[in-house]
Amino acid sequence: MVSVATVSHSALSAQTPVYLDESKPLEERVQDALSRMTIADKIGIIHAQSKFSSPGVQRLGIPEIWCTDGPHGIRPDVLWDEWEQAGATNDSCVAFPALTCLAATWNPDMAALYGKSIGEEARYRNKSVLLGPGVNINRTPLNGRNFEYMGEDPYLTSRMVAPYVRGVQDNGVAACVKHYALNNQETDRDHVNVLVDDRALHEIYLPGFKAAVKDGGAWAIMPGYNKYAGDHACENSVLLLDILKGDWGFDGVAISDWGAVHNTDKVARNGLDMEFGSWTNGLNWGSSDAYDNYFLAKPYEQAIIEGRLPVDDLNDKAARVLRLIMRTAMDRNRPFGSMNSPEHYAAARQIGGEGVVLLKNEGSLLPLKPDLKVLVVGENALKMMTVGGGSSSLKAQREIVPLDGLRAAAADKGIELSYERGYVGDITGEYNGVTTGQNLNDNRTAEQLITDAVKAAKEADVVLFIGGLNKSDRQDAEGCDRDSFALPYNQDKVIEALAAANPNTVVVNITGNAYAMPWKDKVPAIVQDWYIGSEAGNVLADVLFGDVNPSGKLPITFASALTDYAAHADNDPAMYPGVDGDVHYKEGINVGYRYTDRLKPSRVNYAFGHGLSYTTFELGKATLSASTLPADGAVTVTVPVTNTGDRKGKEVVQVYVRDVKSSVERPYKELKAFRKVSVAPGETVDVTLTLNKEAFAFYNDKTRQWEVEPGKFEILIGNSSANITSRLPLNVTTPLTWKD
Ligand code: BGC
Repeated sequence: MVSVATVSHSALSAQTPVYLDESKPLEERVQDALSRMTIADKIGIIHAQSKFSSPGVQRLGIPEIWCTDGPHGIRPDVLWDEWEQAGATNDSCVAFPALTCLAATWNPDMAALYGKSIGEEARYRNKSVLLGPGVNINRTPLNGRNFEYMGEDPYLTSRMVAPYVRGVQDNGVAACVKHYALNNQETDRDHVNVLVDDRALHEIYLPGFKAAVKDGGAWAIMPGYNKYAGDHACENSVLLLDILKGDWGFDGVAISDWGAVHNTDKVARNGLDMEFGSWTNGLNWGSSDAYDNYFLAKPYEQAIIEGRLPVDDLNDKAARVLRLIMRTAMDRNRPFGSMNSPEHYAAARQIGGEGVVLLKNEGSLLPLKPDLKVLVVGENALKMMTVGGGSSSLKAQREIVPLDGLRAAAADKGIELSYERGYVGDITGEYNGVTTGQNLNDNRTAEQLITDAVKAAKEADVVLFIGGLNKSDRQDAEGCDRDSFALPYNQDKVIEALAAANPNTVVVNITGNAYAMPWKDKVPAIVQDWYIGSEAGNVLADVLFGDVNPSGKLPITFASALTDYAAHADNDPAMYPGVDGDVHYKEGINVGYRYTDRLKPSRVNYAFGHGLSYTTFELGKATLSASTLPADGAVTVTVPVTNTGDRKGKEVVQVYVRDVKSSVERPYKELKAFRKVSVAPGETVDVTLTLNKEAFAFYNDKTRQWEVEPGKFEILIGNSSANITSRLPLNVTTPLTWKD
């Protein structure tokens, strides 16, 4: 008999089950764990046990999965089976800028920093899955959730999503990319059936998800609420089996949006792996302990036992969930994360600073000069924006509102700052039991508020109007769309009155969407701010006082009127918000600038890609590495960028491709490469960008493959989609085709 003392180390480790042995290949571990599990165990791990968690396998030491929203910070904990707060005191977080702001940086390094930072916060809170980022395309500026997404362009979105995903996952936390796919409006979101042609699907609406999966290596994806071609996204075999798991080879977990599952047979067969939030809308209702009745719980188990549904599908789902657990909670080497660190605040401030867009700056009114009397007007100067908006609502450890940020900076610079309200919008500030604690009451009439603001404006050197939208219902918020393209609460009138009273009126709007600007020509300066989170006030002060030189570029088109967006052009309810449950994307690929470029350039207030700086740049003559596309389909563009002003600044070189003549409809031009560069005054930097074969391709809906057609192309280089400084011809002689 061998005594315990003499058992060698190798003998002990030989007893370690394969699934717990991290030296073994992942797939071997997954299969080993699976082989030890009963049907009940497998059913157990593929659906929720609480609002945000699913069980592991207790007997085997396989941990639970804890999810958290996303995408702008780590959501505070709610009760096990209710949407109300759990009442924890350790779950306040850094609120990072909303994803529209991230997209407006046009800087993939900022996306990497964002992913790393938010991933560290998720990890510190012991979450395995971050419910984000969101990559749905901004098809209509009325969509209440656009602020959670990355704009209107599939290429920009694709370039920004992959580093975010990688940054999160380096922490051993899965990114769950949402909402797959075609969840482009909140009106009737639970049921609306999207009818879209295959070209628009593949060229406009899917690339962000494809990049998250293929370039970012996302471990999870969230099929959304809506239907596509008659089937809910969670039950959609085309989206989940053919495209996601087939064409893109996704080996992760498809996690349903909260309450997006409707049918056991369909989800069982069509590629959904995990069910969360059934009997809720993901926002509030549904607090009953219903988990055993989930579509993928008892009803599925019963169907498997009775042989009505194949066990192979269950094994595949369970294997995917195990893979996710092993990549996250069972990764002994993952870092520990961190929360509310100075580095995270610095990241939030840096990303915010790079995302603010200077739309207009006549007479160089900005940055603000010292020793001025500045009047700030507007509710958004006061209002905390991290609370509200739906599931992305946060409990921020701190939020510096614009007025506080500006006051602190002004004091340092000898600037005298006063405040007037101007209008009263929505003074509430509560979400799921988190309250801002702000008292924004003001009982003056609308007329009186304007009168008081105008009086003060006349005595100021500069007026800063800070308004826009907010996170209340029917603004930038989940669950409903905006009522109108106009700014709410009488703001146009307030701005016009201020502009008439003081010619130095600067408009700063905090929104996640475009809006009408009837006062655009009456004010000398306009700043597009976004929901910036914890550092909102500091970021705005950095930009307005010139400590940060703005370098953001619009990720969306700011058109004059709602009808300048293709989805609304004909005022056709079938195109928006839908008729009898169907919404028909009749505009096809003509979304955002792809539409205005062709039909309505003069109707654009500020174009996709536009954004000024406090310095000036000149884009010199661009050159191409070849005049004919080489066989490998790659060509490089080089363009000299000179800083012709007197401050260091960052410029974004944008390369668009135009197919001069094609057998199919092509947009006038499409973004296919970009690079942000920092240039010192007087310096010239040569920027080289590569265009791969993908840059020239369209999706052939007949052959179901990507295709580059021979013929003449033009490469358009500029610093906005509306400011093209070089046009270079390129010939394509050899046709190219490929499948995803
Ligand atoms: C939202 C998701 C969110 C989920 C969980 C749903 O209402 O659509 O984006 O992740 O709730 O809060």
